[in-house]
Amino acid sequence: MRKKVIAGNWKMNKVSTEANQFVDEVGAKIPEDKNVEAIVCAPFPFLASLVDKTKDTNLKVAAQTMHYEESGAFTGEVSPVMLEDLGITHVVLGHSERREYYNETDETVNKKVHAAFNHHLVPIVCVGETLEQREANETMDHVENQVIKALEGLSDQQVAETIIAYEPIWAIGTGKTATSAEANEVCAYIRQVIAKLTSKETADHVVIQYGGSVKPANIEELLAQSDIDGALVGGASLQPESFLQLVEAGK
Ligand code: G3P
Repeated sequence: MRKKVIAGNWKMNKVSTEANQFVDEVGAKIPEDKNVEAIVCAPFPFLASLVDKTKDTNLKVAAQTMHYEESGAFTGEVSPVMLEDLGITHVVLGHSERREYYNETDETVNKKVHAAFNHHLVPIVCVGETLEQREANETMDHVENQVIKALEGLSDQQVAETIIAYEPIWAIGTGKTATSAEANEVCAYIRQVIAKLTSKETADHVVIQYGGSVKPANIEELLAQSDIDGALVGGASLQPESFLQLVEAGK
C-alpha cells in the first residue's frame, strides 16, 4: 500500500512568528504513522528555524523551489546544496505559478529533479493543465508530456521515489475542485505513463497527489480514489486546525 502524503504549500504567506507558531502547534500533533507523511512547504526565510523546531516531530519541511546549480553567480537563488545542508527533506518543483511567472520550463524542472536526487531531496513535481487545454481535450497529452520530460534520465529507483502532484491550474485557488473522478482519471493516467517509462512495479510505488482547492470537506473523497495518494494544499493548509484535519484524513 502506498503511503498518503499531505503537503501544505504556504506559497508567499506568513511572517516568521506565524510560521514558527504554526509548527509549534502542529508539529507535536502529527502522529507517527508510516502510512501518512505530513509536510509544510515554507518560504525560504523560515526554513532553518522550522527544521530546527520540527526535528523531534513527524512534521517534515520542504522548500517551494530551488535552483539546479550547486553554487555560483545566481543572485537571489537558493541551491540544492543549501537545502540539503539545512536538513530539508522535500522540494516542490515546477509548480504552475513558477512555470507561469518565473519561466520554469520542462527542461529546468528536469534539471532540478536531478539536482534534488543528487542532494537527497525528494522532488514533488507539479504538473497540470490550463482550463483552455482541458476544454480542448488536451489534458492527457499535456500532462503526459510534462511527466515524461520531468522524469527524463532518472533511474527506476529515483522515479519510484518521486512524488508527482497533479494540479489542474483552473482548480488552484479558485474554489473549483476537479471532481474526485476527474482527478483520479488523470492521476491513473499519470501512473500508466510512468509504467510505460519504467515498469508497473515502479509506477505502483509512485505517490501521486492531487492539488487544487483541497480542503477538509473534500479531501476524504479525493483520497478514497484508487490513484490519489495525497494532496498538495494551498489555502486550506495555512491554519493549524485545518492542516491537522487534512493530515487526519490521510490516516
Ligand atoms: O500547491 C498547492 C496549490 O497550488 C493549490 O492551492 O489554494 O487551491 O489549495 P489551493
